[in-house]
Amino acid sequence: MTEKLQLYRCEICGNIVQVLSEGADALVCCGEEMKLLDIQHDSTELGEKHNPKLEEKDGRKYVHVKTHPMTKEHYIEFIQVQSKDKKESCTKFFNPDEIPEVDITNFSGDMTAVEYCNIHHLWGMNEERTIYD
Ligand SMILES: [Fe+2]
Repeated sequence: MTEKLQLYRCEICGNIVQVLSEGADALVCCGEEMKLLDIQHDSTELGEKHNPKLEEKDGRKYVHVKTHPMTKEHYIEFIQVQSKDKKESCTKFFNPDEIPEVDITNFSGDMTAVEYCNIHHLWGMNEERTIYD
């Protein structure tokens, strides 16, 4: 059963979809069941390059993945900031030549973030951190 804000990927064409209204038993693309993208968390070198992090600079707050390459071949496609109750989400998409960061200065509440790398797929914050306590 699908759940709100889950991300699914087609292994054949690479299509990625997000669940906005949950309840389907399965999502199908190219005639095959789509694969649920698990949110990866770890503190290995690969995890450190991918886990979204918090930063404050010049009086503003950001979620970023600045330790990751941003080349045409390997880059962060998007960062999504989500409220933990899944009632709000905000997605920012990036081109390979951009800095992967989201200004969250005006966000409030109990939030977390995920990012999607075109090669290493979906990553969450390293711990179940809240953006605002
Ligand atoms: Fe990556």
